[in-house]
Amino acid sequence: MILNRSDLRNFLFFLNEIHPLSIEDSLLGAATAPSSWEEVKTKIRVARKNDSFVRSIKRVQIYIHVPFCGRLCKFCHCARILLRRRSEINTYIDSVSRQMMFLSSAYQGMSADTLCFGGGTPSILNAQQLTAILDGVDEAFPNPQRKILFEINPSSWSASKLAVLSARGLYRLSIGVQSLDDKVLRNVSRSQTRKKVLWCLRSARKAKVPYVNVDLMAGLPGQTTKGFMDDLEVLLDEGANVVHVYPYCDPTGQILRRSQDEVKDFFKKRDSMMKLGSEALVKAGFSRKGLGAYTQTGAGEEHQEEAYTTLESAVAGFGPFAKSQFPGAVYYSSGALRAGNNLPSVALAQHDKSYAMSHYAAIAIMDGLNEKVFARRFGVSLEKQCGEALRFLQQEGLVTFSKGVWKFSGKWEIRRIREYIVLTRILFGQRMVDNLRRRFADKYDPQHDYSGGNSLLKAYSNSWLMTLYYRMGV
Ligand SMILES: C[S@@+](CC[C@H](N)C(=O)[O-])C[C@H]1O[C@@H](n2cnc3c(N)ncnc32)[C@H](O)[C@@H]1O
Ligand code: SF4
Repeated sequence: MILNRSDLRNFLFFLNEIHPLSIEDSLLGAATAPSSWEEVKTKIRVARKNDSFVRSIKRVQIYIHVPFCGRLCKFCHCARILLRRRSEINTYIDSVSRQMMFLSSAYQGMSADTLCFGGGTPSILNAQQLTAILDGVDEAFPNPQRKILFEINPSSWSASKLAVLSARGLYRLSIGVQSLDDKVLRNVSRSQTRKKVLWCLRSARKAKVPYVNVDLMAGLPGQTTKGFMDDLEVLLDEGANVVHVYPYCDPTGQILRRSQDEVKDFFKKRDSMMKLGSEALVKAGFSRKGLGAYTQTGAGEEHQEEAYTTLESAVAGFGPFAKSQFPGAVYYSSGALRAGNNLPSVALAQHDKSYAMSHYAAIAIMDGLNEKVFARRFGVSLEKQCGEALRFLQQEGLVTFSKGVWKFSGKWEIRRIREYIVLTRILFGQRMVDNLRRRFADKYDPQHDYSGGNSLLKAYSNSWLMTLYYRMGV
């Protein structure tokens, strides 16, 4: 399949509007095979023993995925399920604790200094359940200095939950605000109120949580640009020191089915909110930390995003749908919870060498991707594996090359690895692009301009795909 650059851009725009979980499936699904937790443990042990690169990774970030939600929001793309009975949570905690105990020895000697909870809705656990799961983490991965990053839906947050987490090292609370307009929230079946959101923010500031993040969405049905900007102003006044602005992507695909003019209007309005929001944040003293992510300058020590893999840090994910990895070496993910107090199912990713190499390159380029080091590690030249894609990115001004080392250019302010992994999987892996195209052949029309006239850079910054991986704790 021949792919020219403008076609690829268009295809990426198109992907923005498709349910990301189906993309996740097609990216990873083909490469995974059912396996056992025993095998996962052995793979990690063998890699840590024999692979000097894996041995050099001394830090492991713990990610716990809480898949339950009390109500399913219409817009949501996350790996989540509706909670039917509260007792399911106890089964879940038991399963996660077993999973952690079972795998902890494979990570022995590594520093587990951060613990990230993502969802679904981690705040759905009550104070007692929070204590139980934290005790499970402490038993499997003891670390008295641990920083906790926790994601909440305001409707299920309370003072007693905040007290439990504060006492155990809460470092970053992420509040799912989306909008402060109760009418807009009702449009997307979101149960919280403006009043409750503001309480969450104030109480976190009062409890001196170092970082309080708010997630805002741009382009929701019924949302106006003025409403969006007013919300942002209130949230900043109330003391949010980290802000994520997400461009709304419609999981139902209804927007794409509208006329081309309407589609363009939708993008135009959404882009304008993103742009105005960005300008207001910069004016208020925030700096951009990634696509749609802003941190208040001088808010303290370096703000840590959700768990992500670097050359110095692995991620160990627990709970259904959580993903784990040592870049370029071991990848595995948990499947659904099984009946009974058991471990979730497991999929050990049998990624081929080509995937491992591209993935390593995607991570290494954050600090500098060295041709020689790459060739030594994989016995294949970087030119052969990623040359074409790197030149593509270079032409776009996104990466630079000097003295055998590829790096991000200043032009592209991506710090979070998540976005970049997705980007490279697509750009570096022609086979994956082809697979995706085949899969969406009946939906993708190359004649249609999905970008609404956007630039490449915007295409990526608008991409919901980009936010998928870190949310899922890859
Ligand atoms: C894991 S989700 C939700 C976190 C938490 N469960 C909550 O409800 O607040 C993380 C964030 O992704 C964003 N998000 C979810 N679906 C989206 C969509 N369709 N388009 C853009 N952003 C979305 C929302 O801002 C949301 O807070
Ligand atoms: S936005 Fe949050 S609460 Fe709503 S369905 Fe998604 S994960 Fe659940």
